[in-house]
Amino acid sequence: MRFETKCVHVGVDKDETFNSATTPIYPTSTFRWVDLNTHKGFDYTRSGNPTRKALEQNLAALEGGIDCKATATGMAAITAVMQLFKPGDHVIAGHDIYGGTFRLFYGVLADYGLEFSFVNMGDPGNVTKAVKQNTKCIWIETPSNPLLNIVDIKAITTIAREVGVISVADNTFLSPYLQRPFEHGVDIVVHSTTKYLNGHSDVVGGAVITCQEDHARRISYLVNALGLACSPFDAWLVLRGVKTLGLRMEAHQRGAMALATMLASHPKVERVYYPGLPSHPGHELAKRQQYGFGGMLSFDVKGGRPEAEKVLTGTKLFQLAESLGGVESLMEYPETMSHASMTPEARRASGISEKTIRVSVGIEHPDDLVADMKAAVAAIG
Ligand SMILES: Cc1ncc(COP(=O)(O)O)c(C=O)c1O
Repeated sequence: MRFETKCVHVGVDKDETFNSATTPIYPTSTFRWVDLNTHKGFDYTRSGNPTRKALEQNLAALEGGIDCKATATGMAAITAVMQLFKPGDHVIAGHDIYGGTFRLFYGVLADYGLEFSFVNMGDPGNVTKAVKQNTKCIWIETPSNPLLNIVDIKAITTIAREVGVISVADNTFLSPYLQRPFEHGVDIVVHSTTKYLNGHSDVVGGAVITCQEDHARRISYLVNALGLACSPFDAWLVLRGVKTLGLRMEAHQRGAMALATMLASHPKVERVYYPGLPSHPGHELAKRQQYGFGGMLSFDVKGGRPEAEKVLTGTKLFQLAESLGGVESLMEYPETMSHASMTPEARRASGISEKTIRVSVGIEHPDDLVADMKAAVAAIG
């Protein structure tokens, strides 16, 4: 099956009682046993549920993994993976990862004895330099959030293999339609399914996808032991959303390219961050390791916070809201919104400034999006 066909068919667990064409929701906390040794594959919904299982099989197939655990949020997925490590272990992560991941690492897990180094992964040499005797994990996020820096996944996983540590990729920004990290040697993939996989801004969820038996077993144990799994209803919503993933991603990136092209030549715009533009430093690498450039872009306006605020409050179609990956276009201000949980120093080190605006381009017609944004940017004065 090709990718789009897998989206629609894999894991879709049809109900044989009434021959439903789609997976039913099983909103039950518990399942009846036949006798003291036998049940029909599920006993308690924290540990497993048929609707959730359908989603897990689907996502494992889309990423090319062997197993998946669907979690209540993206952060729950990241929490599950981080429980693979113990106090004293060292983790290397990008300096420009999602602010919530930074907060979990720096603000929570560091107190439990995990050590972190945040490096500019744009140069794999920085990762090599950061490796220590107790390094156990390299955390990759590419394209990075919000500046769309591209990390060479193959180069980083080669380092991980050489030093014998686990590599993890957060593939939220592109979805498996546009990037499949297992193809580049990554060990574990995580997602915030809140974003493109669900695609309709009506659920929060996450997923951990594994490609090795020992990781699959441990993640499954951890998700059950820590109580991180998602509800059957949320699993059903994501499974419903995934069916149109390919179509949506094509529309997202069509709009993003049109918008980036307009912004790149706008006199009130200082810089555009979109890997689809040939001027983007990661353009060639993105062409090599991705199947497209995605629907996220950021830009710096000329001026500072007042000018940025004018744009952020001056559009009709782009809503001022956090999150990304939904069918509707959103805009947000990393400085006080998505990346507020980073220290100001960490924000500056990663290149986020008071001029930076992040855009999640929806699936509206590109001409409408370009016209709306053009008018808002021109209104800076
Ligand atoms: C790249 C990335 N990873 C993880 C998360 C966390 O996901 P959630 O908000 O579903 O917990 C986000 C949320 O914005 C994200 O952008």
